[in-house]
Amino acid sequence: MRGWQVRELGEPADVLEFGELPDPEPGPGQVLVRVHAVACNFPDILLCRGTYQEKPALPFTPGLEIAGEVVAAGDGAAARVGDRVIGTPPMGRGGYAELAVLDAASTLPWPEGMSAGQAAGMFITYQTGICALEHRGRLQAGETLLVHAAAGGVGSAAVQLGRAMGARVIGTAGGAEKCEVVRGLGADEVIDYSAEDVVARVKELTGRRGADVVFDPVGGDIFDASRKAVAFEGRILVIGFAGGRFADAPTNHLLVKNYAVVGVHWGYYRQMRPEMIPAWQGRLDELWAQRKIDPLVGADLPLDQAPEALRRLASRASTGKVVLTP
Ligand SMILES: NC(=O)c1ccc[n+]([C@@H]2O[C@H](COP(=O)([O-])OP(=O)(O)OC[C@H]3O[C@@H](n4cnc5c(N)ncnc54)[C@H](OP(=O)(O)O)[C@@H]3O)[C@@H](O)[C@H]2O)c1
Repeated sequence: MRGWQVRELGEPADVLEFGELPDPEPGPGQVLVRVHAVACNFPDILLCRGTYQEKPALPFTPGLEIAGEVVAAGDGAAARVGDRVIGTPPMGRGGYAELAVLDAASTLPWPEGMSAGQAAGMFITYQTGICALEHRGRLQAGETLLVHAAAGGVGSAAVQLGRAMGARVIGTAGGAEKCEVVRGLGADEVIDYSAEDVVARVKELTGRRGADVVFDPVGGDIFDASRKAVAFEGRILVIGFAGGRFADAPTNHLLVKNYAVVGVHWGYYRQMRPEMIPAWQGRLDELWAQRKIDPLVGADLPLDQAPEALRRLASRASTGKVVLTP
């Protein structure tokens, strides 16, 4: 098969090598999947650099989420040849390749009617969105949801999920082009946070009340602004730190304003509450069947363009998900 490997650590463009690799073989309980699309994620860049919290042994193949078709099943694998699945290959033997091996028990059905790129790219982002908004944030119909970096991967999912849950959604993004994307995703209001004062605009849009729930994948200055823009009894959902700084949450401020700062780490649920993953996927399948969600693929590139895909992610030049197609 053809695929990418990292043999030494460094910038993705310097260390990713494309070429012929041995076909992997499924062990007991595993399936061999022909990759139809693999979605790119920021951790792929960190893995190449060796700065991700998990460090697979060299050489490794990146690629955390795929959509594909089962072409062989190991002993005892609860899957059949021909099944169309989505899932996450084991760390280091990832989906930047024509074939990948997955634990059959961890795969989920590829949602009916979804393109390969959408199916590959919806798994982590929409699971994170539903975990954050429904389970951790308890977002209610009629509440105001403020989504930061709303044109990005997890942000675009949160906008659509928030709308599907009946919230009024305010999306923020950097620049006019991304704001247009956020509007297209269905946000009720859009703030260009590279040009406007987020706190003042949120206060203005909510009659000075603030947002009930804030979805924050950026952190840093954006988190600081969110503390000022959150409503009485609001919830700030800490999703990520794309801005590069971990912000502080002063407990006196939480007390005085009666709001909560809620951590969200979807990946940990796979370990602690694995039964939640198929349950959330069921909810997502329902929403997709009603076309209340429609995952945004901002770029679909051939597999041999992986360094370019990661360059776009690293330089803030992407919207929705960037996917690679073998
Ligand atoms: N908690 C969880 O379970 C979970 C799950 C998935 C992802 N995440 C995290 O969520 C964050 C976003 O992931 P994603 O997949 O949505 O990434 P993404 O598609 O690359 O979107 C990130 C967005 O953040 C904004 N941003 C602001 N400052 C930035 C900076 N200095 N560098 C890069 N981007 C910056 C950019 O939007 P603007 O240009 O509009 O500002 C960018 O589009 C990451 O930190 C990721 O690790 C967490």
